[in-house]
Amino acid sequence: MKLFVNIKELVGVQEVSALKVGAEMDSLNGIKDAFLLVEDGRIAQYGPMCDMPQNLRDLAENAVLQSGEIVDATGRYIMPAFCDSHTHLVYAGSREQEFTDKIKGLSYQEIARRGGGILNSAKLLSQTSEESLFNSAMQRAREIMGQGTGAVEIKSGYGLNPQDEIKMLRVIARMKEESPLTIKSTFLGAHAFPAKYADDHNVYVEEIINEMIPMIASEGLAEYIDAFCEEGFFSVEDTDRIFNAGMKYGLRPKVHANQMGFSGGVQVGVKYNAISVDHLESTGADEFRALKESDTIATILPGATFFLNMQYAPARQIIDYGIPVAMASNYNPGSCPSGSLQFQMALACIAMKLTPAEALNACTINGAFAMGVDDMLGGITAGKQANIILTKEIPSIDFIPYAFTTPFMERLYIAGREV
Ligand code: NIG
Repeated sequence: MKLFVNIKELVGVQEVSALKVGAEMDSLNGIKDAFLLVEDGRIAQYGPMCDMPQNLRDLAENAVLQSGEIVDATGRYIMPAFCDSHTHLVYAGSREQEFTDKIKGLSYQEIARRGGGILNSAKLLSQTSEESLFNSAMQRAREIMGQGTGAVEIKSGYGLNPQDEIKMLRVIARMKEESPLTIKSTFLGAHAFPAKYADDHNVYVEEIINEMIPMIASEGLAEYIDAFCEEGFFSVEDTDRIFNAGMKYGLRPKVHANQMGFSGGVQVGVKYNAISVDHLESTGADEFRALKESDTIATILPGATFFLNMQYAPARQIIDYGIPVAMASNYNPGSCPSGSLQFQMALACIAMKLTPAEALNACTINGAFAMGVDDMLGGITAGKQANIILTKEIPSIDFIPYAFTTPFMERLYIAGREV
């Protein structure tokens, strides 16, 4: 049991859990001067202090504060922990050499064409043991928890052959066991074509369909299937075939769509009822229409846009058009070596003109939807798992993206336990 009292404001309250769309995205549904009761790892009760039941009042008055069961949150906010719905945080090493290459003028695609980029990470990963991959990924998991993330989706995609893709997915499976984070796993064999298939893409697509998907599904190693649908990577036809095959094994698509250009990724994602289409730097009228009529959420990854110095996705227009928007970190060694959602919030506000409330909803309740955990996470709703942030004494929630390098979190609780 844990009872938080005198909370400056309890933020992200939803009587009934629901995705935020349109104008609702700009509301944080706060209760000022609030209490929150957590029991068995779940949100049990909450409300204004003046309505706190007598039994809880007695408890608060008599409790020994050091026991940790009663937390006096005077001057501090409680909000849902971040749900980071798009990351590649299992990887074997950093790529700062390419960072310098980019500064000197090479583009992401040029680096990839020279065998760098994702192929560089794949080479390193093939030489790295599962144990070592696990240890470095757990380190990143601890890092993002320290920045307020309570749930994370993690992709494979640096294996690019059956053995190494499965190695990555087993690392993610072990993380599910050993990390307090709520984790969802995505098979991204279609991240890049291995060099040996550079002139024979079809053979690799067949390998994904006929070897990797059945093996991964039989071991229950992934919930989702993803593809980098982009010129120079996987075509719409490749993506279509891969999603079709994955869905037969119960893997729901997510898709890297429209990052470098109008790739058709959004449309193929919508066609297969993808849970999310991610990136969206190139999004126009056709994509807006396709998304508006779908159950697929648009996911922005402004950290990658920033790092690659590209044009940002038109997130303001997407929200105004009535399409729900989620936001994720895309933590990866090539286009966003950061898992900080505070920083993503700042980018969304400054570069994409989202309000702080829209940015926060995008990486809490809408992020939860984008990784299929909205029934249990993403908001302050009775019965949900208590993944919550107790902030430091900050002047407002807007302060979080405003003071974007100032640590705002005092404690993170996952399932009601401080981590
Ligand atoms: O989402 N665009 C494809 N995948 C990652 C980058 C991966 C990498 O460069 O290692 C992304 O940006």
